[in-house]
Amino acid sequence: MLDRLQAQSPDALLALIKMFAADEREDKIDLGVGVYRTDEGATPVFAAIKHAERRLVESQDSKAYLGPEGDMGFVHALMPYIFGENATRGGRIEGMQTPGGTGAVRLAFALARQAGVSRVFLGTPSWPNHAQILADLGLEVVPFAHARSDGQADRDAVLAVIDDAREGDALLLHGCCHNPTGIDYTAEGWEEIARRLADSPMLPVIDVAYQGLGEGIEEDAAGLRSVIDAVPEALVAYSCDKNFGLYRDRVGAFYVLAKTPSEMSTILSNANALARATWSMPPDHGGAAVREILRDPELTDLWLDELADMRSRLRAVRERLAAADNEVGGLDLAPLGTQNGLFGMLKLDGDQIRRLREEHAVYMAGSGRINIAGLTKGNIAGFTAALAAVADNS
Ligand code: LMR
Repeated sequence: MLDRLQAQSPDALLALIKMFAADEREDKIDLGVGVYRTDEGATPVFAAIKHAERRLVESQDSKAYLGPEGDMGFVHALMPYIFGENATRGGRIEGMQTPGGTGAVRLAFALARQAGVSRVFLGTPSWPNHAQILADLGLEVVPFAHARSDGQADRDAVLAVIDDAREGDALLLHGCCHNPTGIDYTAEGWEEIARRLADSPMLPVIDVAYQGLGEGIEEDAAGLRSVIDAVPEALVAYSCDKNFGLYRDRVGAFYVLAKTPSEMSTILSNANALARATWSMPPDHGGAAVREILRDPELTDLWLDELADMRSRLRAVRERLAAADNEVGGLDLAPLGTQNGLFGMLKLDGDQIRRLREEHAVYMAGSGRINIAGLTKGNIAGFTAALAAVADNS
């Protein structure tokens, strides 16, 4: 039967990792997959993680199974950072550990489908895997515009979607550092979204994969908290892969806001059953290291300092790109200066993106998305010169 299968093209973003590795040019620039890099181009393990891992080696006395919910110490330790004061909202919020943020997104929509969701409204462009996960679950994806051409979020588009919603609809929102645009709703935008969601049958599902890489831990959670405080029910998918640098360890969490605490055990029994049937139990190591950091104030401070350094480097690169606006005729780099997180979109066509790769060894997603962290003091001038070259000759 297996010969009936049709070949699938490899995931374009992951294929780029291999293409970059195979390129032998020394001045090649990787602006593809979303991993943080230092000004030296490295993606080191956080010092706080190294400390926590050493402690785990010493103290961990068993690797016996924990269960589909994973390490609840980890799940609970994150909650004040995500939800702020009164992090359980009186017992209305509870969670479980997942394999990465992707596992959390998958679980959120599998649960939503089980609860009767059939359509998901997705602001586009979005992280390409969102649409793949939704399609794999057999959910209808209804796109709407996330951003306007002037580099601002399109608040009217999302509000219109909320106002027209019916039973069985869900809305996928990026909590902060929108992937791929870097364009987030303003605080007032989030408050208006929250107000309208409160009167709508729509289920909000908020994906938070970059907390702390935008304006700060608290600032990056403000939009999510506006929604959580306004609506009866919501689902949250959370990733520690970027803000703890744990990418390949796959560290994520999934949270439910229930109408009342009494509904929680039934909801979570469904999430547990779905997790059991999908991955059985999440990987432990990375979550245990995060728990170890968050229960030690010194390690927590070290982690927050490391995160602040990442944030200020991203901000500095953004400012340098925005300042190069007049060097790269017509590409409009200025908005990158005020956007958030790892990503931004360049107004390049497919041919320009191909020429950047073939003639200048600059690798980026086919959508024109760049990973801001791939730019360093050493390569940014080469990058803007390459942009100028393809912009001029187009
Ligand atoms: C990205 O968008 O580059 C990251 O979220 C990595 C991934 O899994 O796609």
